[in-house]
Amino acid sequence: MRARVTTHARFAIAEIDKRVYGSFLEHLGRAVYTGIYEPGHPTADKNGMRRDVIDLVRDLDTPVCRYPGGNFVSAYNWEDGIGPQSERPTRLDLAWHTSESNQVGIHEFAEWAKSANTEMMLAVNLGSRGLDSARNFVEYVNHPGGSYWSDLRKKNGRNDPWDVRLWCLGNEMDGPWQVGHKSAAEYGHLANETAKAMRAFDDKLELIVCGSSHSEMPSFPQWEATVLEQSYEQVDYISLHMYFENYEKNTAEYLALSEKLDRYIGTVGGVIDYVKAKKRAKNDVKISFDEWNVWYHERKQDTERMKEWGWPHAPALLEDIYNFEDVLQVGCILNTFIRRSDLVHIACIAQLVNVIAPIMTAPGGAAWKQTIYYPFQFASRHGRGTALRLDVDCATYNADVASNVSYLDIAGVHDADAGTLTFFAINRHGEEPIEISMALEGFGTAKSVEHTLIKHDDLDAKNTEDNPDNVKPEAVSGARLDGNSLSVTVPAYSYSMIRIQL
Ligand code: AHR
Repeated sequence: MRARVTTHARFAIAEIDKRVYGSFLEHLGRAVYTGIYEPGHPTADKNGMRRDVIDLVRDLDTPVCRYPGGNFVSAYNWEDGIGPQSERPTRLDLAWHTSESNQVGIHEFAEWAKSANTEMMLAVNLGSRGLDSARNFVEYVNHPGGSYWSDLRKKNGRNDPWDVRLWCLGNEMDGPWQVGHKSAAEYGHLANETAKAMRAFDDKLELIVCGSSHSEMPSFPQWEATVLEQSYEQVDYISLHMYFENYEKNTAEYLALSEKLDRYIGTVGGVIDYVKAKKRAKNDVKISFDEWNVWYHERKQDTERMKEWGWPHAPALLEDIYNFEDVLQVGCILNTFIRRSDLVHIACIAQLVNVIAPIMTAPGGAAWKQTIYYPFQFASRHGRGTALRLDVDCATYNADVASNVSYLDIAGVHDADAGTLTFFAINRHGEEPIEISMALEGFGTAKSVEHTLIKHDDLDAKNTEDNPDNVKPEAVSGARLDGNSLSVTVPAYSYSMIRIQL
């Protein structure tokens, strides 16, 4: 199969906000305990944080990390996680039916975030709590001193404020499963009032209001319209979530789901425009896609287990083991965010460690990269700059979720400062390679090209503690530059990163 791709230096979509390569850590399963935090571990630092995990997170290069939830945040008292660790209460976590020891709280997370080279993005509880605890939390985290909460932070060992810019106004408040679930009108009102109070403290905060938990929610997209009609002028982003599944083991359908993601983003973009026009608003609201990933491998079993297990502390939960097929899916998702970088400014892979995550750990043992670590790392490291519009001429197929799905999913990024062009390409065809001819116009002379490939003959191939390198990238030859034309062949069912030095 052949594909022709044309791009031009002037075909700019938008500057990619690096925070689109964000991540997420929730007090859920082993994400925190035996994930990032394990005081007895051989690599633990003075704060009890696993250095082996910090190294993998630093290599992943995720510029922002959302915390502490997720569903967990909707019944969380942030004050339980401050002060001497030995005096912190154990609480029942109603979201995941577990016990929360509160050994990790905002101080420990902040130290970890610094070590992991990632910015904090915090969520406030608008489920069981509301405006008052939110404003206190912001004061504790961001006020220099001379007030009750900021002085308490100092007493607890942190003199300087952390100056956290990004704040989520609750989590998935449209979901009946959420502790303190609300109607769109109730939530819109509460989010608006909470945002006003937080802005009274600091009007430069970046605030994220909850959109839909996924596009199949019965309330979608009326939820977005109602919530934004109440809060538009007070917020900077609306959050969306989406998880991808392949229960039917149908790869063609599975890999077409990014078309649904694209429609979801487009629809919410339309709602944003509608509300902005209706309110004659001056400000812009963008999308924070602050939970996305593949999530289905362990999902049903875990939901069953949770009903029976009492209140364990940090049980193994949502530990999806990803395969090679998921590399292709994650590549298509990230390409969609690049192509939608005019609207999507923040996105968080959910989650970061052990819980539906690119990084896995064994308690007391090793930490290793899941298969999906690589497409995320490549996009995060090399997908920075200007997103390019590409004209793609390739054969297509019809899926239930969308028609005319191109066998070639490709996104391009121009980093003018570094003088590079980077393309991320997924071949969605199971048997045929795609010979790509690409015309690169207006970029100056292309000097050299590198092709990095992720390919495995078994779509179900996984990386495990015993076999951590089963699926991994390799440098391949064969990509050719002829003037400003590029020829490269991408094998059937494969992920490629093609980098051109200008
Ligand atoms: O990431 C797992 C869960 O998925 C989060 O807690 C919740 O926000 C979503 O439903």
